[in-house]
Amino acid sequence: MKGVILAGGTGTRLRPLTNLMNKHLLPVGKYPMIYYAIKKLADAGIQDILLVIGKQSAGMYVDYLGSGNDFGVRITYKIQDQAGGIAEALSLASDFIEANEKFVVLLGDNLFTDSLLPFVQEFQSQPEGAKVILKMVDDARRYGVPVIEGAIIKSILEKPENPPSNYCVTGIYMYDNEVFELVAQIDPSSRGELEITDVNNLYAAKGVLTYNVMNGWWTDAGTMESLHEAGAKLKEGE
Ligand code: DAU
Repeated sequence: MKGVILAGGTGTRLRPLTNLMNKHLLPVGKYPMIYYAIKKLADAGIQDILLVIGKQSAGMYVDYLGSGNDFGVRITYKIQDQAGGIAEALSLASDFIEANEKFVVLLGDNLFTDSLLPFVQEFQSQPEGAKVILKMVDDARRYGVPVIEGAIIKSILEKPENPPSNYCVTGIYMYDNEVFELVAQIDPSSRGELEITDVNNLYAAKGVLTYNVMNGWWTDAGTMESLHEAGAKLKEGE
């Protein structure tokens, strides 16, 4: 399987730090944030990685990661010109993924301790569709929140006022190749972005959106508070 890491976006919630450099290069413990996503994929045996970045700090990514050789992976870079949303960034992977190929997507600001391997192995044997990884959280209103029915997700609400569960949909997604057709079907949201939740809801409507729940620590390091929490948690460079 191949992996795609999405590291575009503007990082507005981390200004003024992100005035200087892109969010995913900010230090978390001993490493720049992007290191952890690369390591998680490499540890799950995923060596072919597409890294989608914005124009900001593009040269710094190459300075740090190069071809990926020092990290035991092969990195292909794509530039997302504007922060048009997670699903738009994902659409840039369409010629990186072969027909009938499944792949893993990580949001570059998601940091966690669980291994990806069991989730990836389970998805390998899923005949079609997509899988998302869930985590129980204190304040689900900040995230995509699933409506669960048995082994599948019926729908996902993006940042709901009244969350239907205490689970958040993390930025760990697995897709079959159909995802690119589904991205082409959605329209920009009220914030002007192509939303990954709209794509996942198309899978959910077809009854082919499965999930697993993460038991370890997880955060999305998109705010000052969560960035500091992540730095403290990962200070030993786990
Ligand atoms: O972290 C999990 C959450 O991520 C999910 O629960 C939500 O359902 C999902 O919509 C997303 O929410 P956020 O509002 O936190 O997404 P954010 O705009 O902060 O973007 C997260 C990452 O996606 C960011 O680290 C880089 C990537 N991204 C984002 C945008 C908007 C891109 O690569 N390009 C983009 O245009």
